Amino acid sequence: MNTRHNTCGRAIALACLLAVVVATAFAQDSAFVNGQPWPDVAGRHINAHGGCVLQHDGAYYWYGEQRPDRGYTMDGGIAVYSSTDLRQWTDCGLALRTSPEAGSDIERGCIMERPKVLWNERTRRFVMLFHLELKGRGYEAARVAFAESESPTGPFRFVRSTRLHAQTWPLNMSAADIEAAKQTDASAWKEWWTPEWRAEVEKGMYLWRDFESGQMSRDQTVFTDTDGRTYHITSSQENLTLLISELTDDYLGFTGRYVMVAPGGQNEAPCLFRQGDDYWLICSGCTGWAPNEARMFKAKSIWGPWTQLPSPFQGVATGFFNMPANKTFGAQGNFITRLNGQLLFMADIWNPRHLARSLHIWLPIHFNDEGTPVIPWTGNIEL
Ligand code: GAL
Repeated sequence: MNTRHNTCGRAIALACLLAVVVATAFAQDSAFVNGQPWPDVAGRHINAHGGCVLQHDGAYYWYGEQRPDRGYTMDGGIAVYSSTDLRQWTDCGLALRTSPEAGSDIERGCIMERPKVLWNERTRRFVMLFHLELKGRGYEAARVAFAESESPTGPFRFVRSTRLHAQTWPLNMSAADIEAAKQTDASAWKEWWTPEWRAEVEKGMYLWRDFESGQMSRDQTVFTDTDGRTYHITSSQENLTLLISELTDDYLGFTGRYVMVAPGGQNEAPCLFRQGDDYWLICSGCTGWAPNEARMFKAKSIWGPWTQLPSPFQGVATGFFNMPANKTFGAQGNFITRLNGQLLFMADIWNPRHLARSLHIWLPIHFNDEGTPVIPWTGNIEL
């Protein structure tokens, strides 16, 4: 373990002590103001984007893309910050570094996005899943990558990167659906976005195109159910269709059980959670770094069927640029989790000219009388 990580361990112990001493004094303070720069304990804006927060052994770990100030590719890798109170965050350096080795899947200059970290009780390891694009190939590789570590702050070891489910049909396609998909031909469609093209996409045209070599995986998240089964949710088939896939017990691969969700719906930035017997999926549309209206889906089983409902966002983001709910307050979701008993929607307000300066918003999720999620704009967050 390097000095940075030891320092981070000592910082956690010290922060625990301080947290007890000052807990009362801080009790009434907001944790932070949504949409403002969020400084770490050293005063630098937290550079961890598209990420997630993991709670483990009395501490919180915030993982995310460490973005350069200019450009889109990764010099560093995946950042990790730690906290004991969700307010004061200590920069623990890079959890996963890009590699200096030419030809490595994670060679410096690759793109790593939307890292999600899980604690695996069976293997007693932390497992990171992220979206990987190979150096110099734009967004065409569309792979999911795995890394693991014995420590929450890393260093994580890169395990492998892959496409999904080569030569495997989804659980929610019948024999007739499979026959129909086999009749499609993606190379025949020069013009996208016509009703005829969309009908072919819904039949599984891009699933069939990539059937032999494996399915694309870009924006992604993970979800652990109450029975411990853990799932990967990803934007596949040219970002047109979502896949929900069961992970193996060690979280380092797929069992082969998966479903297609909302074929042709163009959903990105998936965030999935469960409330009682209901599963909820909140996604964005597909407009790159620019904000758009969120989409919400509900199901009684992780395998669906998933039904689309209106966006849960309400109100206007006050205090900075008045972005309305139908633009998701200028943000795009990255993760939903429960922290201190509060279900939170976490999102990035992307700044494409200076990605490192992209802002964070964490919004509490409420439920209306019908038990449907509602996410109003909230300025000051109490955690
Ligand atoms: C967004 C996506 C981000 C990133 C970006 C690149 O739609 O959610 O994670 O991939 O596009 O343009």
